Amino acid sequence: MTDRNGVLAGKVVMITGASSGIGEAAARLFAAEGAAVVLMARREKTLDQLAEEIAAAGGRAAVSAGDVADAGDVRRAVATATERFGALDGAFNNAGYAGDKIAPLHELDEAHFDRVMDVNVRGTWNCLRAQIPVMLAAGGGAVVNTASTAAMGATGAPVPYVAAKHAVLGLTRAAAAEYAERGIRIDTLLVGTTRTEMIAQAAEGRPELAEHFVARQMQKRMAEPAEIAEAALWLLSDRASFATGAALAVDGGHTAN
Ligand SMILES: NC(=O)c1ccc[n+]([C@@H]2O[C@H](COP(=O)([O-])OP(=O)(O)OC[C@H]3O[C@@H](n4cnc5c(N)ncnc54)[C@H](OP(=O)(O)O)[C@@H]3O)[C@@H](O)[C@H]2O)c1
Repeated sequence: MTDRNGVLAGKVVMITGASSGIGEAAARLFAAEGAAVVLMARREKTLDQLAEEIAAAGGRAAVSAGDVADAGDVRRAVATATERFGALDGAFNNAGYAGDKIAPLHELDEAHFDRVMDVNVRGTWNCLRAQIPVMLAAGGGAVVNTASTAAMGATGAPVPYVAAKHAVLGLTRAAAAEYAERGIRIDTLLVGTTRTEMIAQAAEGRPELAEHFVARQMQKRMAEPAEIAEAALWLLSDRASFATGAALAVDGGHTAN
């Protein structure tokens, strides 16, 4: 049920990677907390279904399907926010890709490296470049980029993904510094192992991998997607008014271990 007095009441928030996992949980949560949400990912039918469910619960949602690695697709999603809802107050740049196999560096090819960099790094860059001008014109905004515990060190994820998430952290910090005095807050989430399609695919046929990923998390369990979405909600809300350039660990204690 949508709460017109929720912490995101009156705000328009774009979410990438909204078709599953953390992004989908965020879409439902942000809409329930009063935001109009713009949903972006490649699977359009899945997004349409989610938008219908949000509307049925009394929320507001629009779909702009596309690939975050394509600057034009990202610009269209930003335009959807301003055309449908008249603003872009927040963005959860959450789409990510770990690659289609877990293997040591010397067994991965150029295409693997390029795609992981394109989705995670260029995708975040494309989002920031399209979102920031709209926020500057409006006098401010808030952005949360999804990084990972892999932004802080070697987690056992493939090397290109670890490098890409380090880059997402760098993009966040440098962009936060450039826009902090102009009313835009930009933060990142250091996400720990979370029960989503990404982990299910990585661990398919190799249950020991899932165990390996949670072993360093103090809580010795995976997060549910909604637990990560709650942290993004706070960072995007006005309650996080003094948080910018932050790398907020939501990882069951992984990075402190
Ligand atoms: N699950 C974990 O343990 C974990 C840990 C640390 C960080 N993360 C990060 O959390 C974020 C969300 O992942 P998740 O765990 O929720 O996995 P997920 O369920 O696989 O979700 C990934 C989302 O990203 C979208 N996506 C992938 N490539 C895209 C592209 N090129 N353009 C647009 N959208 C794209 C997917 O939708 P389409 O396929 O429809 O495009 C999907 O909605 C990612 O940045 C991931 O790196 C996850």
